[in-house]
Amino acid sequence: MELTQKINSVFAERFGGNGTLYASAGRINLIGEHTDYNGGFVFPGAIDKVIMAEIRTNGTDKVRVYSIDIDDYAEFGLNEADAPEQSWARYIFGVCREIIKRGGKVEGFDAVFAGNVPLGAGLSSSAALESCFAFALNDMFNDNSIDKFELARIGQSTEHNYCGVNCGIMDQFASVFGKKDHLMRLDCRSMEFEYYPFSPKDHVLVLVDSRVKHELADSPYNKRRASCERVAKRLGIETLRDATMEMLDAVKTDITAEDYFRAKFVIEEKERVLAVCDALNRGDYETVGRCMYETHAGLSKDYEVSCEELDFLNEVARECGVTGSRIMGGGFGGCTINLVKKELLNDFVEIAKKRFNEKYGHEPKIYNVIISDGARKVSDAE
Ligand code: GLA
Repeated sequence: MELTQKINSVFAERFGGNGTLYASAGRINLIGEHTDYNGGFVFPGAIDKVIMAEIRTNGTDKVRVYSIDIDDYAEFGLNEADAPEQSWARYIFGVCREIIKRGGKVEGFDAVFAGNVPLGAGLSSSAALESCFAFALNDMFNDNSIDKFELARIGQSTEHNYCGVNCGIMDQFASVFGKKDHLMRLDCRSMEFEYYPFSPKDHVLVLVDSRVKHELADSPYNKRRASCERVAKRLGIETLRDATMEMLDAVKTDITAEDYFRAKFVIEEKERVLAVCDALNRGDYETVGRCMYETHAGLSKDYEVSCEELDFLNEVARECGVTGSRIMGGGFGGCTINLVKKELLNDFVEIAKKRFNEKYGHEPKIYNVIISDGARKVSDAE
């Protein structure tokens, strides 16, 4: 059944009648990983995988929400003390609270949601969920007076304050601002951004999802961020955006080897995003691809956020002659993003599936990337 129909019928069953449908999207990132919280550049786009919610005010001060995919129901108030127990519901509670903290209005509502953004694949299903509700609550209770950057920040603050992830702005930005057939180069220091038309003639983007997720107990993402902040502090600058390799080398003996390599990756990655933008303007996909392989190597060896399975997929891509390939997103599992010549695509996909299966006992999932719109209203209540 189609997502909209499924949500419509579950909403009618649970709450009677119908509400307004909203959606927001997961994202890919062509290049610029772990640069957002360092004030650097990122280059994401929203994709055709969405979280969709049907929502209607209920005239109370309670939120009642049902997740179709998790098959779980939560009910909570809108005060700080009312945080729900379920982690999935905290994303929605967090969005409500962050709107209220900013002086916005949220009243009780009923909601049913579902999605097709693969979970744990590095496609930012959580940002899609946050921006879907942020967009919806802005429309329903605030006459759309909260601007789109603030909607993205509301999602980001939700991660920080209610979900324990000290993330950057990339995912929520991409999910809110995404535009069909366009990537966006965002400067995470000034928050200026530019849409880049992206519909290459001879290449396609394809994601290979390893379907592994190495959840580590000690929040490795927050640790990476802390390393970067320590080095910036040592250099007397606000973020690593303003660091160069010369500056880093000058303090090499004062910082740990681990912090040195984390910062080195960030400094190099910042330059790669700019090189990729230039190359795209020239239609030079070879350079784009080379930079993607360099990013993978840096994420694997210096930033240490890859894993055996993702390194293997990267190697297979290289052996198949794929133009560019790298781990995408926060790391420790999930997908590689691959820039593949159209005529190579079928062979690459077949070989990647077969070789991965032989080694790890299951096939990776393949997603063709279609760059699509971000947060939006899908339809009004009838
Ligand atoms: C996660 C975070 C983003 C970003 C990426 C890595 O997706 O949510 O803010 O830092 O990792 O680039």
